[in-house]
Amino acid sequence: MNFHPGPGRPHDSPFDLAPAGDGPDSRETVVGSVRDGFAAAFGGVPDGVWAAPGRVNLIGEHTDYSEGFALPIAIPQATFLAAAARDDGLLRLHSTQGDGRTTVLRTEELKPGAVTTWAAYPAGVVWALNESGYPVGGADLYFDSHVPTGAGLSSSAALECVVAAAYNDLYELGLGPVDIALVAQHAENAFAGVPCGAMDQMASACSTAGRALYLDTRGMTATSIPFDPERAGLHLLVVDTRVKHDLGDGAYAALRQGCEAAAGHLGLGALRDLPAARLPAAVRSLPADLGRLVRHVVTENARVEQAVALLNSGDIAGLGPVLSAGHASLRDDYRISCPETDLAVDAAVGAGALGARMTGGGFGGSVIALVPGGRVAAVTEAVTSAFRSAGYAAPGIFPVVPSPGARRLL
Ligand code: GLA
Repeated sequence: MNFHPGPGRPHDSPFDLAPAGDGPDSRETVVGSVRDGFAAAFGGVPDGVWAAPGRVNLIGEHTDYSEGFALPIAIPQATFLAAAARDDGLLRLHSTQGDGRTTVLRTEELKPGAVTTWAAYPAGVVWALNESGYPVGGADLYFDSHVPTGAGLSSSAALECVVAAAYNDLYELGLGPVDIALVAQHAENAFAGVPCGAMDQMASACSTAGRALYLDTRGMTATSIPFDPERAGLHLLVVDTRVKHDLGDGAYAALRQGCEAAAGHLGLGALRDLPAARLPAAVRSLPADLGRLVRHVVTENARVEQAVALLNSGDIAGLGPVLSAGHASLRDDYRISCPETDLAVDAAVGAGALGARMTGGGFGGSVIALVPGGRVAAVTEAVTSAFRSAGYAAPGIFPVVPSPGARRLL
């Protein structure tokens, strides 16, 4: 079940995603190219152009469906959309990464399960808006995604959020960023059938440049925290392991069910409510498989609080050990790392990264590493050569900076 419109940009050499079309220099180029794509696919000019980014999560993994905390940033790689409203109820979808065909749907016929290609994500947003009491009609939507797919960087959330942002403007809905995120999450849960939490959509919709987003998923509050690694002489590298994981394949749902079952056993509404002091007794009272999940969630929530305190005090380097501790917890307790992510983390830290961890849903995808400026080349080389020696496909390695959330470009 992979709905996304094919692969994002190729990124085989280190850093070639850095200018992925969303910086000040390339913005005009991207806007021009999606306007041209729109004209070729549909004829005419779009009403506007929008962008919504992918994300990496600094810490707070697999906590968002236990009403916990997370600390993502938006990345520069975004999905771009040229869009025009239509008054005949037709929804026409075309993607640069697609097979060259235009998908044509009728908005009044949209229902969960009815669309089984990448078009389920944008169509799901249109359905979710109508479901949530925002009556909207059709549109012509032309996409160009610069977010690598299946890499744990939330290409689906970017696709959903860019549609929600465009519809918000085209149909003058008056939605704020959190509303956009929640409509996008509803589309993914109920229309595309992926039982994700809200972290990815919140990061894509609510982020600001130069800051991380401190999420409390119980009240769905988002506080932006200063995060400027470069000012501290550090770089945040993404290592795309090339191991693809599809959240729709059941493993994610099983983990979520495990957390809910554990909370039920403990008499709690959500694992968020288990104080650290009660963790040892709670783990002892549960079957081993559930106890491990609980230990991860409780310690991970504490790591988010620790990371927020560090960033608020300007100690970005202090984040390194928190990242590595988060990885150990995902590997040993949540058990969602894989040999490739473990190797990337070990090689990065061995070559001088201050800390590293897998980010996103797990079972592959990407690793982030916090690296002193002087060690970037060494870390890149160490990870690349470790993958080569292990016989793995060459990883994609590129730096990211905290970037803005969904917005209108034109
Ligand atoms: C995926 C989901 C998110 C979150 C992460 C793990 O990215 O979409 O809601 O659960 O996994 O933190």
